[in-house]
Amino acid sequence: MAFTINVNGKAQQADVDGDTPLLWVLRDTLGIVGPKYGCGVGVCGACTVHVNGQPMRSCQMPVESVGASKITTIEGIGAGAVGKRVQAAWSELDVAQCGYCQPGQIMSATALLTKTPKPTDADIDAAMSGNICRCATYTRIRAAIKRASGQKIEA
Ligand code: FES
Ligand code: FES
Repeated sequence: MAFTINVNGKAQQADVDGDTPLLWVLRDTLGIVGPKYGCGVGVCGACTVHVNGQPMRSCQMPVESVGASKITTIEGIGAGAVGKRVQAAWSELDVAQCGYCQPGQIMSATALLTKTPKPTDADIDAAMSGNICRCATYTRIRAAIKRASGQKIEA
């Protein structure tokens, strides 16, 4: 069946079964490969995208449920002021190690800062707890979120 979905501000067509996960459509049909396949069962956060600004696991979202929602991926997050600041902070603090989890981390961090511009450590932990990093970059992730929010980074 043909679906038209809005990804990063553009209407995109995919002719797939309705129960195909959005992650598969993005990566395999549309060639948008920033969102990563990690666990495939909703527990690692590597596939995180924004759906109308909310962080969602695209591996758990059938394409037929997307409708007219606006999907944003890591490829489009820098178009917004908050996403741009988050990406700059990530780069300045050299957050990524292998990098595999980082698109998902940045998507969750951007959603957090959009809702809570000056998050506390507890806010950060709560918002980021669903994003796993096998390289354990958690300390740098927290520092980059603080930097992007304009708060002092504690040593
Ligand atoms: S791949 Fe979607 S949560 Fe792990
Ligand atoms: S940077 Fe390697 S998994 Fe997070």
